Amino acid sequence: MNSPIGVFDSGIGGLSVAREILRKLPREHIIYFADTAHVPYGERSLNEIRYFALGITRFLIEQGAKAVVMACNMSSAVALDDARILWPDVPIIGVIEPGARAAVKASGGKPIGILATTGTVKSGAYVSQIAAIDSSIQVSQQACPRFVPLVEAGLAESEEAEVAAREYVEPLVRAGCKVLVLGCTHYPFLRRAIELAAGADVVVVDPAEETAATLAHVLSEQGILSVSMAGTHEFYASGDVTSLKELGSRFLGLPISDVLRVNLTSGDVESVGCRSENSQIGS
Ligand code: DGL
Repeated sequence: MNSPIGVFDSGIGGLSVAREILRKLPREHIIYFADTAHVPYGERSLNEIRYFALGITRFLIEQGAKAVVMACNMSSAVALDDARILWPDVPIIGVIEPGARAAVKASGGKPIGILATTGTVKSGAYVSQIAAIDSSIQVSQQACPRFVPLVEAGLAESEEAEVAAREYVEPLVRAGCKVLVLGCTHYPFLRRAIELAAGADVVVVDPAEETAATLAHVLSEQGILSVSMAGTHEFYASGDVTSLKELGSRFLGLPISDVLRVNLTSGDVESVGCRSENSQIGS
């Protein structure tokens, strides 16, 4: 019950999901893994992403995770089914099923636009998940290769981000989309620029909230919700730790003073720091 929840992404994007989990389940303890040695995932092959995602899932389960959240759309698109087969006893939650559900709910049958990385667009995962819920809804996709590097570089609030947002959002608005899905967990960092480009009559959906609700439901069904007081969170990165420490702390509203560096290929864990106290999650 009081074991941690493993959450991972290619970088700091998955913190947008971790934030929702901690808002909804403040007693839970999170182990967060950022695959910064390989970020951005966007232009990599789907096979490579599957390999990374399964390696990270294994690592988190070895650290004692009672559940794993793939807080990465690309990983959810290509590795979720395999992970559920490999670890049938551990609940593994992706972001695409909840994201598709939230989008359909918000759309009222109107066209939906997906903003995502090139890999997620190629996988067609949102298109098929939405069609499985309501095949009459029109879905358009837009790959946004410049977004993740901007977020990781701390430029989410820049002029450059606004220009990119206009370029990516306008084709979807022209196609008549009334709902835009933030189909990459880095994009909530760009929400202001995306909403500005989309205009007031378009609803922007972040799958994070529905993902946290799904996790809460699964943990409660299995009787493994934490009953302890809020504990500590642990942060790991496979490469550079700066974005997690600096941007991540600000985004989560928690000090992330230390991050453990992990080389998953060799299995080594090189300590360059450690934990963060669980306190209030910022907005
Ligand atoms: N944040 C991840 C996603 O949701 C991956 C982004 C990337 O590294 O390109 O797909």
